[in-house]
Amino acid sequence: MHITSKAAVATAAASFWVQLAAAQATCSNVTAEKTYDYIIVGSGAGGIPLADRLSEAGKTVLLIEKGPPSTGRWGGTMKPDWLNGTSLTRFDVPGLCNQIWADPTGVSCTDVDQMAGCVLGGGTAVNAGLWWKPHPEDWDVNFPTGWQSKDLVEATGKVFGRIPGTIAPSVDGVRYLSQGFDMLGGSLKAAGWEYVVANNNPEKKNRTYGHSTFMYSGGERGGPLATYLVNAASRPSFTLWTHTIAKRVVRTGGLATGVEVECNGGGHAGVVSVTPKTGRVILAAGSFGSAKLLWRSGIGTVDQLNIVKNSTDGPTMISSDQWINLPVGYNLNDHVGTDIEISHPDVVFYDYYGAWKNPIPEDKEKYLSARIGPLAQAAPNIGPIFWETIKGADGVNRHFHWQSRVEGTLNTSMTVTQYLGTGSTSRGRLTITRQLNTIVSTPPYLRTDNDKAAVVQSLINLQKVLAPVQGLSWITPKPNVTAEQFIASVPAIPARRGSNHWTGTAKIGTDDGRTNGTAVVDLNTKVYGTENLFVVDASIFPGMITANPSAAIVIVSEHAAKKILALPA
Ligand SMILES: Cc1cc2nc3c(=O)[nH]c(=O)nc-3n(C[C@H](O)[C@H](O)[C@H](O)COP(=O)(O)OP(=O)(O)OC[C@H]3O[C@@H](n4cnc5c(N)ncnc54)[C@H](O)[C@@H]3O)c2cc1C
Ligand SMILES: *[C@@H]1O[C@H](CO)[C@@H](O)[C@H](O)[C@H]1NC(C)=O
Ligand SMILES: *[C@@H]1O[C@H](CO)[C@@H](O)[C@H](O)[C@H]1NC(C)=O
Ligand SMILES: *[C@@H]1O[C@H](CO)[C@@H](O)[C@H](O)[C@H]1NC(C)=O
Ligand SMILES: *[C@@H]1O[C@H](CO)[C@@H](O)[C@H](O)[C@H]1NC(C)=O
Ligand SMILES: *[C@@H]1O[C@H](CO)[C@@H](O)[C@H](O)[C@H]1NC(C)=O
Ligand SMILES: *[C@@H]1O[C@H](CO)[C@@H](O)[C@H](O)[C@H]1NC(C)=O
Ligand SMILES: *[C@@H]1O[C@H](CO)[C@@H](O)[C@H](O)[C@H]1NC(C)=O
Repeated sequence: MHITSKAAVATAAASFWVQLAAAQATCSNVTAEKTYDYIIVGSGAGGIPLADRLSEAGKTVLLIEKGPPSTGRWGGTMKPDWLNGTSLTRFDVPGLCNQIWADPTGVSCTDVDQMAGCVLGGGTAVNAGLWWKPHPEDWDVNFPTGWQSKDLVEATGKVFGRIPGTIAPSVDGVRYLSQGFDMLGGSLKAAGWEYVVANNNPEKKNRTYGHSTFMYSGGERGGPLATYLVNAASRPSFTLWTHTIAKRVVRTGGLATGVEVECNGGGHAGVVSVTPKTGRVILAAGSFGSAKLLWRSGIGTVDQLNIVKNSTDGPTMISSDQWINLPVGYNLNDHVGTDIEISHPDVVFYDYYGAWKNPIPEDKEKYLSARIGPLAQAAPNIGPIFWETIKGADGVNRHFHWQSRVEGTLNTSMTVTQYLGTGSTSRGRLTITRQLNTIVSTPPYLRTDNDKAAVVQSLINLQKVLAPVQGLSWITPKPNVTAEQFIASVPAIPARRGSNHWTGTAKIGTDDGRTNGTAVVDLNTKVYGTENLFVVDASIFPGMITANPSAAIVIVSEHAAKKILALPA
């Protein structure tokens, strides 16, 4: 009965929001009368769970998203011809997730020099759906008091209760095209590495391997768009504006009174206000978007604020005597990624890229009729995933996560990306240009000797694991190139090392950035120097965690919602 009523709510919400999406295709001016207890900017991994938890607590909530709807449930329309006549879009079908790289038009952010999703759901609409429960050290090494693994048990339980993840996304429970997994997993096993179901054993991250875990559900994308947002949308206290760009936070000193918005091919324009005295603004626009909004609102270091002052924003920017000096854009991080390529005669390539125009008819049929087969799995056949922890000369444990996929220069190739996560000590910097685009001006990759040494050691360890494997050949690096030579030869720039896992531009901490500290937000995620402005997304991560970040960001959002609701009005 419970399940039936939930499903009914979801269906009602879906048709309501599909109509709303159509209505939002025209630009309309904000009406002054309506105010909100919470205005949340950005509908990604950080923003959507907040919208649910705050509306659940009886608050009126406005969620502002610059992009269009994405998945079919929300009225999204982007799809290949073979999905015509179905409610599915390119965002729903796991086997089409890589289309973001083939055709990002209208999907990726245009004000960022990296790949990021600017549609409803943000990264959770465009990503590969990898969904990992964090290792305890992800919190304990990186995060401050109140954000340790013991503090996050409740939030983690809530997130994984709602989005458990799966290691068998096809609804028949079969893993299709598992030759790559079998070959590489078998090699790791032979070398003594332990097979784990990763999300049942989040603490086992040293010489372990497993099937990839995805947030997919029912053979479709799932995740926050299919859970938290559905719940939020069922409440009259919740409002969603798509196609609407937040330009800046409107504030008087430290008091945010509202958000100035602009239409983006539809949506809303004007100034939307928070409830007088008690209302709050929460930025959840991602590591690039939230930093940009802070800068445009006169919050950041003087050099960046002067760039905004000298842009088209200049004439209407908040005056410099109101600027709040905080290290926004510093502490930028991303997994440093290093790709290797191997080939083995057992490995079988599946043409996920070709499935956009010409899916194999039988696979298309199986997917459309029952959500089974290769198209229910993430392109391009991801797995195995494996982990190792290496202690550096500086005494720091560095966590490695290797992610394999079946693609490369041969049809028997696998490309395996090594990511350095928890323990990495390198950081970069994000800045803004006069055109108001954010750029990675200092890439965060391999800037310390101990990070480099660990990356080399981890590759040497993998070479040893794979040395005895019959029939396996190394394509990159070539056998005559040492691990040191190879790591040194790959430029430490986003185009070669980037992982799309950007974090850190508005760090959480107790050392107030206004007085020479490194933190932009306090332990309640409130921006230092403000009364009611918050940041809750990947921006606040102090350091890089082990696995792909979306689940950790949702956990952070759950925890932040609880902290924010507990603050005195
Ligand atoms: C191609 C790709 C693949 C990835 N694969 C994985 C994966 O498999 N697993 C995983 O865990 N992680 C993956 N990630 C990373 C993960 O998706 C992100 O880390 C996560 O979504 C970040 O969450 P966020 O809330 O900080 O920001 P986002 O999810 O980026 O959300 C920010 C939202 O704010 C909106 N916005 C920005 N500025 C404004 C503004 N001014 N006004 C209104 N709205 C605004 C954006 O449109 C966006 O919807 C991937 C990322 C990419 C790009
Ligand atoms: C919206 O506001 C702008 C600027 O104030 C004005 O020019 C425009 O006519 C308004 N549009 C509508 C539909 O009211
Ligand atoms: C699918 O729909 C699109 C957009 O409406 C249309 O251009 C295309 O011709 C359709 N394709 C088929 C095979 O019906
Ligand atoms: C402002 O922009 C102009 C280019 O239009 C440039 O010449 C000038 O140096 C900039 N000033 C500052 C303070 O950045
Ligand atoms: C990881 O496991 C290896 C092999 O058992 C061990 O030598 C190493 O010390 C472990 N790393 C850490 C950080 O515990
Ligand atoms: C690899 O497979 C694809 C799709 O099956 C095919 O088009 C291509 O010719 C193959 N390439 C090689 C090098 O065999
Ligand atoms: C390794 O061998 C390739 C040919 O397979 C050659 O082109 C390359 O220069 C060699 N590299 C080193 C470092 O010896
Ligand atoms: C600011 O911090 C740096 C580094 O911790 C230190 O060297 C410097 O003296 C500090 N400056 C002030 C004004 O406290």
